[in-house]
Amino acid sequence: MYSHPNKDYTGDFVATHGMPMSLPSILSILNGMNEPASDLPHILDKTSPTRVLAISSGKGGVGKSTIAANLAIALSHLPLRVGILDADIYGSSLMNLVDLDSHATSSKHDGITPPTAYGIKCIAMSMFVEDNQPVVWRGPMLHGVLRQFLTDVDWGQLDILVIDMPPGTGDILLSLAELIPRTEVLIVTTPKPDSQAVASRAAAASQKLKLVLRGVIENMSYFTGKDGIKYLLFGEGGGDTLANTYSIPLLAKIPLLDPAISNTLGKTPLMATPTECESTDIYNSLAKTLQGQRQPKIYRRELKIK
Ligand SMILES: Nc1ncnc2c1ncn2[C@@H]1O[C@H](COP(=O)(O)OP(=O)(O)OP(=O)(O)O)[C@@H](O)[C@H]1O
Ligand SMILES: [Mg+2]
Repeated sequence: MYSHPNKDYTGDFVATHGMPMSLPSILSILNGMNEPASDLPHILDKTSPTRVLAISSGKGGVGKSTIAANLAIALSHLPLRVGILDADIYGSSLMNLVDLDSHATSSKHDGITPPTAYGIKCIAMSMFVEDNQPVVWRGPMLHGVLRQFLTDVDWGQLDILVIDMPPGTGDILLSLAELIPRTEVLIVTTPKPDSQAVASRAAAASQKLKLVLRGVIENMSYFTGKDGIKYLLFGEGGGDTLANTYSIPLLAKIPLLDPAISNTLGKTPLMATPTECESTDIYNSLAKTLQGQRQPKIYRRELKIK
């Protein structure tokens, strides 16, 4: 696992060779000026080439986890090196969506080795909780858990880390803004006006935290019948309204998946199957659009949460 020579196991900066560090050398490290040349940079480092895409919404049940899993797989087909972090610490749904081929293992020296699904490294809180036990892992602090997922998991070299966010605008978003200010946020909504209004809170919170709002993904936009007609089962306009409000693009409209397909999927995400349909085309083109974008440059001072 990559370890920063000036960081201890918990990721905090420590003096090298047991000598106290001078203020200028601490500052230069914090400014990223003394970063060692490494082809395996830490995700938290400002110079890390890993893009971080947070799939977020103020509203629950709009398809964040479904989109995170399918988008991650579509990105991996491009091919990009992709990881998924399920940041829904208390209501982890990644495990319901992906059939992992092994469990996470951890050791004091090597950190946490994430299991893979479809060639994608995955980590979720539920991997560390057995038999529905309450979450107690390095204390109950969400910030600490998220930080540990980012620092202690052996992600290897990633092009993109997809983060499946919990619903709402709570602690995890704040922590992410502090830990990775370059995080790019994708807001998921359904076409319903009321759903859009709730989803919009995550956009407002992200904007307040000065995260980059990459765009809106409208899910369950329509259902294409056998007659080829698009039925707007949940109304229309939610995605457009949200995109217009924040002056960001509406990146994709994902239709309701045909039950004839979803019934055959089980735990397997659509994009991990050979199925070709309207939705697979949309995920592929969304992945290409995102691939074509550049990682944002952050010039502001990093947010510190006391
Ligand atoms: N386009 C779609 N077509 C059909 N079903 C979908 C679609 N998108 C999501 N679903 C279904 O909707 C349900 C909710 O999806 P999902 O768990 O991804 O939402 P979520 O936003 O992550 O929820 P939570 O806020 O609880 O984490 C799931 O049963 C999922 O299979
Ligand atoms: Mg979810």
